[in-house]
Amino acid sequence: MPLKRQPNLKLWRDVLDSLNDAVVVLSPRLDIVLKNPAAEALLGSQVNRGLVDSLLGRNPWLEGMVHDCLEKRQESSCADAKLALAGQDLAVRAEVAPLLTQTGQFKGAVVLLHDLSHQRGVELVANGADSERRMGLSPSGLAHEIKNPLTGIKGAAELLAGLFAPDHRGRQYCGLIMDGVSRITELVEQVLSVSGPQRLKKQPVNIHMVLHRALRMAGLFPPVEGAIRVEQVFDPSLPDVLGDAAALERVFLNLFRNAIEAIGPSGTIRLRTQMESKFRLRMGHEQRRFLRVEVIDSGPGMTPDQQAQLFTPFFTTKPSGSGLGLVLSQRMVALHDGKLWAEPSEEAGLTGMTFKVTLPLAVGSQSNYGESGIA
Ligand SMILES: Nc1ncnc2c1ncn2[C@@H]1O[C@H](COP(=O)(O)OP(=O)(O)OP(=O)(O)O)[C@@H](O)[C@H]1O
Ligand SMILES: [Mg+2]
Repeated sequence: MPLKRQPNLKLWRDVLDSLNDAVVVLSPRLDIVLKNPAAEALLGSQVNRGLVDSLLGRNPWLEGMVHDCLEKRQESSCADAKLALAGQDLAVRAEVAPLLTQTGQFKGAVVLLHDLSHQRGVELVANGADSERRMGLSPSGLAHEIKNPLTGIKGAAELLAGLFAPDHRGRQYCGLIMDGVSRITELVEQVLSVSGPQRLKKQPVNIHMVLHRALRMAGLFPPVEGAIRVEQVFDPSLPDVLGDAAALERVFLNLFRNAIEAIGPSGTIRLRTQMESKFRLRMGHEQRRFLRVEVIDSGPGMTPDQQAQLFTPFFTTKPSGSGLGLVLSQRMVALHDGKLWAEPSEEAGLTGMTFKVTLPLAVGSQSNYGESGIA
């Protein structure tokens, strides 16, 4: 069917808006001329000149590509690069091409970024050992090695405690040893739980049930007068996700605990659930759809430096933090073919952080969701 001339502009806008790839058009002076919604999802909605500077500053490889394009009108591409963003590093495919009018006039550079992380999520599941290497932790081997001597230490500390009178200082020291051992054991269990994809159940799971259970575990439900307020902005018609309910509960429990620790005694956590309009992953002939959960807090937020390290193993600003909560949660979400990332909150009244989680819908339940709900 021939396309009408008039709506062409709108059609091109629709094409750009429908793309999962981030498209940003830069003028020769590096001003943003155009960006599509996927670019906002990847880079944050405040895509302005300051962001271009910091984006290129953080990613000299991209700066080089843009520079070559603007200076030499050269087209270039990079099949697999690490894009450093404020809150995370992303694996992307990048292309930069000169923007030319029909008369050959040079107008700037078109930057296209294809987020490879969903694809990576699938690869992580398919290749657990490789993902362990990528994490730099070798979790399963290390965890097994640690667990055995820990059992011995705990047993010995219990026996030793029995040799002291109840009020003896020696008992307190033994108590400290046992507490420390319990904490390490808990950590090891957490690491082990994400080190074997075969341990995960993949069942239809109601995300709101998961969130409610995690809220309860975090002590946020039932609500306590004068303490942290939880606002639930839920889309009750969301279909089930495909996953392991217990594992997902631990992910959200980690996010809730972090929010509580950031907020202090009183403040607000806003929880939002909605269909994910930005990500669709083609699996064979099927397009997988995702939902999104956002955990937004009224805490103090994070400095750009802290954000850059957020998902680095053992990064913590807490005296008794392990710095593994987010790394393990991100890994767990990746094992579900989803994605977890963080951005400074842009919500009215909530000045802290927003943690965003996308999860794939269970295939059977996709057809139950009306098209009207899918952006
Ligand atoms: N909602 C948040 N607001 C502000 N800072 C946060 C938030 N969530 C995480 N952080 C920062 O990220 C760091 C890492 O978080 P992560 O959950 O990985 O480890 P942790 O909370 O320090 O320790 P644990 O392993 O016990 O969870 C935290 O120490 C904190 O500085
Ligand atoms: Mg934590």
